[in-house]
Amino acid sequence: MLTQVVIIGGGPSGMLLGQLLHKQGIETVVLERQTRDYVLSRIRAGILERGTVELMRQAGVAGRLDCECFIHDGTLLSFNNQCFQINFRKHTNSSVVVYGQTELTRDLYDDREAAGAKIIFEAQNVIIEDVERGSPKVNFNVNGQLQSIRCDFVAGCDGFHGVSRQTIPKSKRREFEKTYPFGWLGILSETPPVNEELVYAHSERGFALCSMRNRNLSRYYIQCSLSDKVKDWTDLNFWDELKRRIPESLADLLVVGPSVEKSIAPLRSLVTEPMQWGRLFLCGDAAHIVPPTGAKGLNTAVSDVYYLFQGLIRYYQDGESGDLEKYSERALSRVWKAERFSWWFTKLMHRFPDQSEFDQKMQQAEIFQLRDNANAQAVMAQNYVGLPY
Ligand code: APR
Ligand code: PHB
Repeated sequence: MLTQVVIIGGGPSGMLLGQLLHKQGIETVVLERQTRDYVLSRIRAGILERGTVELMRQAGVAGRLDCECFIHDGTLLSFNNQCFQINFRKHTNSSVVVYGQTELTRDLYDDREAAGAKIIFEAQNVIIEDVERGSPKVNFNVNGQLQSIRCDFVAGCDGFHGVSRQTIPKSKRREFEKTYPFGWLGILSETPPVNEELVYAHSERGFALCSMRNRNLSRYYIQCSLSDKVKDWTDLNFWDELKRRIPESLADLLVVGPSVEKSIAPLRSLVTEPMQWGRLFLCGDAAHIVPPTGAKGLNTAVSDVYYLFQGLIRYYQDGESGDLEKYSERALSRVWKAERFSWWFTKLMHRFPDQSEFDQKMQQAEIFQLRDNANAQAVMAQNYVGLPY
């Protein structure tokens, strides 16, 4: 097989890059390790920056998103029982969009299939060769058959557990990592959201978040211990704990119901440098992870896609490789800003097991600064709605 760009991984990064390139007449093959149903059953965050929505539009895949999304002009923060708003519109003249990442990925799959562009599911044992010189070759197995594709470039969009990052020799890459001493227990329930805007709550019992997917589908999270098991958390216990962490006025309004999904995720920050090795380019979770506080995971993946797409277009349309050579530097510059924001927001809103009373007072002072200082609110709002590309 022969193609222009092999995209490893059919998550949102790989699929969006694929559709953008396809629209410009650049041929791609997507290799996905799982089945389509498996990919579309993964529950992920649901807040899109403006830039993410714009790129979905540019890829011609924003029809359903534009119809079904909610626009949020602000978010609530609470500290113990007190609540205040960070107004995005006032501080940035912008907003964020609520639309589930799973739905966004489904739209990308539907569009790719309608366009007849190639996706190979259940591609096993992907091996990437010859990226340092000449034309790369990607080997893989499907149904026990060995296959290979020659291409101009490889986009490594295969997430944190993928093969692309590991393909870059250890001597050529560095990883910067931080793990946090807690996780998030999340549930999805077919109940109306407790509030029109998201609520990020800092409480003495730990962090909680009230989010949503649509008018009758809510997503809630509570900070939990890393040793907690999903089976030990009944729905009843979850709702009870959530109510104790959010302001009373909201707890009184909370509509509870059976969970339709429940899972625990650890929190981590990780960045790989550089994000390029020869003709292999890393995108999204393959190169970096953020803790979910602030919902930067997908949005940062999309900014990588933006820079890589620009570089590939310049190469194929103008014969210029300068933008591709600058890919890693450009992408990383924005990645580190998103990492900083996610780390700052995580540190601010969670209870750390070894936290001293002084540390708690510092968190409280910083939250009150956000409540009282318009400049602090503006910085938070700019980061939350998404920094420019
Ligand atoms: N070969 C082929 N496909 C692979 C391989 C492999 N060796 N390893 C992983 N994959 C696939 C996974 O099955 C998954 O579908 O790559 C895809 C990677 O998708 P994501 O993990 O969703 O990563 P990405 O597309 O970069 O999306 C980033 O999604 O994971 C969230 O928090 C993250 O919101 C962020 C966004
Ligand atoms: C979600 O809706 O799942 C969500 C929203 C905001 C976050 C994290 C997750 O910061």
